[in-house]
Amino acid sequence: MSQQHIPLSVLAEDGSSVDGFVRAVSPLAESLVQILAEELNIKFSYFQHNCSANTCYLRLNRYPTCPFPSKIVGLLPHEDPSFFTIVHQDHIEGLQLMKDGNWISVKPNSQALIVNIGDLFRALSNGVYTSVKHRVIAAEKVERFSVAFFYGPSIDAVIESYATPPLYRKFTFGEYQEQTMKDLKEAGEKVGLSRFLL
Ligand code: OGA
Ligand code: NI
Repeated sequence: MSQQHIPLSVLAEDGSSVDGFVRAVSPLAESLVQILAEELNIKFSYFQHNCSANTCYLRLNRYPTCPFPSKIVGLLPHEDPSFFTIVHQDHIEGLQLMKDGNWISVKPNSQALIVNIGDLFRALSNGVYTSVKHRVIAAEKVERFSVAFFYGPSIDAVIESYATPPLYRKFTFGEYQEQTMKDLKEAGEKVGLSRFLL
């Protein structure tokens, strides 16, 4: 799987083919975050202060065909390192999410968007919004493409539960990313938010 991260501030200016996607999804993300924040009485100014076109980014995923699909995973199981992620996938099956201990395949629909709550909203909402573990399985005969828009903050943003008693300790996004990289290197997987449980 090849990945490329491009900040939205660059994409909105270069007139590239993904420009239209960014222009369509950015206002959607702004509306979503307002609704999700309002539900919990979290101030919208928190997001205005910490998130911008320089901190949100687009990930372009390409999953090449794989001769051993049962042995190789396209994208390792993970929860997203964002407040939420808006995913557009093509018509090829591959995305799965964990529900009650089982992997469930998400029916591919190129006319729909998928919104995944990420670890940061889980921590901020004190577990009211839950990040869902997901992965992408490899396909033997067809390539798959997807585009993921990560609504996230700057690395110095402080993520602190809005409610008491907090389930997770206060941390910065930079700390979260460092921990994720460390876990990936040492344990071979992204352990995620459970590292910050109190
Ligand atoms: C991701 C992701 C899903 C997909 O990029 O974090 O989960 O369908 N992508 O490619
Ligand atoms: Ni993901």
